[in-house]
Amino acid sequence: MFYTLQDINPKEYEGSVVFLYGDECAERNLPLAKKEVERLKEAKDKNFVVGFDRLPHRLFLVKFDSECPAPEVQEELRRLAVEVLKMMEKDGVKTVALCGEGTLPEEVAAFVEGLTLADYSFDRFCSKERFHVDQLIINSVYFKQEELDAQQRLWNRIFWCREWVNLPVADLNAAQFAEELQSVAEGFKNVKCTVMDKRKIESLRMGGLLAVNRGSVDEPRFVVLEYNPSNLNNQNNPIILVGKGIMYDTGGLNIKPEDYMQEMKSDMAGAATMASVLFAAADNALPVHLVALLPLTDNRPGFNAYAADDILTMYDGTTVEVVNTDAEGRLILADAIAYAVKNYNPRVIIDAATLTGAAVRAISTFGIAAMQQNAQRELEMLKIVGNEVYERLVEFPMWKEYDELIKSDFADLRNCGNTPQAGTITAGKFLAHFAGNVPFVHLDIAGVAYFTKAQHYFRPGASGYAIRLLYAYLQMQ
Ligand code: BES
Ligand code: ZN
Ligand code: ZN
Repeated sequence: MFYTLQDINPKEYEGSVVFLYGDECAERNLPLAKKEVERLKEAKDKNFVVGFDRLPHRLFLVKFDSECPAPEVQEELRRLAVEVLKMMEKDGVKTVALCGEGTLPEEVAAFVEGLTLADYSFDRFCSKERFHVDQLIINSVYFKQEELDAQQRLWNRIFWCREWVNLPVADLNAAQFAEELQSVAEGFKNVKCTVMDKRKIESLRMGGLLAVNRGSVDEPRFVVLEYNPSNLNNQNNPIILVGKGIMYDTGGLNIKPEDYMQEMKSDMAGAATMASVLFAAADNALPVHLVALLPLTDNRPGFNAYAADDILTMYDGTTVEVVNTDAEGRLILADAIAYAVKNYNPRVIIDAATLTGAAVRAISTFGIAAMQQNAQRELEMLKIVGNEVYERLVEFPMWKEYDELIKSDFADLRNCGNTPQAGTITAGKFLAHFAGNVPFVHLDIAGVAYFTKAQHYFRPGASGYAIRLLYAYLQMQ
């Protein structure tokens, strides 16, 4: 989609128009026939979209309830954009001009964001061309060109995250993803990318990442991305972003039954998200020192696969009894978190991971299950910005009682709880062990990273959820 800014007068504009308004008074200023005014009166909802013929063009009126709290209004506008998109597709309208009356710039931005996110679909394997918006001409009263450009760069990162997550493992294994990240990083002068191969990972003794990789013919990778803009006062205290990069999760020897394996190409969404956040920060020159640590491998039951009962020695020396090879994410993340503690002086470690089915069962697909250790302030900030951008998170407890559930008879820890209860929390507790005293936030994105069915402005597939959240959080630093 191309975005341009232009002076638009809806009464004179020759072309299809989307007109946003929150206050009915605006209707008086529209070139509407009597019949059309009647039709608007029939629309009883507080939010609605109607399309009128202006042959050969179309006029789409988007009425929204501007009385709600701002984040709710903006989210409603993102969702209304989906209605407009559907009408555009039906009518074959590929170019529209966007204007409104009494509408705030952030409301217009939310609508454009919804339209942009909804317009994405994973097309590269489809023979038939899909409908996409060609051009969006936005009334220049709403944005400066630089603001629109910055937004667009963020949306582009969300696009690429979704593309990576949607790619099957046959087209994107650990080595290929690492190469892709390296080539993106090369486009920046202040992003450094270090790709560690299996030999290097062995020399570092990352017992978790190596164990999970043992059943695969594809080598693991450990990718370190560092964005360090000049002129920072906190050069030595980076924010560390850790992302789960399971390129495919079969479950390993505890193989996933029936259709539970489907969609597990998305098990590297955490890594894709964290890389995308770092690149977005670099794109828009945010003044913050960031390091993304991305352990990458698939989890397979191949010839020498790790097995339940194995006892692993992790990067930091902690021993872990494997109880279930399908609880693999925490093993690769543990090494990455321990690596952060040992090699940096982190201000905070934040991880994103499609970690537990239990998180989806607890809160469904409407938000992130979050936990913290020594990071109350950081999590509170994330909650606030999460509500603002409508990528919400809810805090789960980290009471000391849960520690008992992951103690092992034979090792320091077991890789899943000794009861089926509180699976999301025991996973968070396991990770928190490796963060030690460093402020730590865990984001379980299992419910939101990938949607089976369309949800508002997300079509089925990868969502890029949490990029807008983390970007907004970084903007506040
Ligand atoms: N990748 C899965 C979690 C998952 C499930 C993500 C559904 C997205 C949708 C993870 O590796 C896993 O298999 N977790 C197990 C843990 C259990 C064995 C303790 C789970 O949640 O069942
Ligand atoms: Zn698993
Ligand atoms: Zn997994």
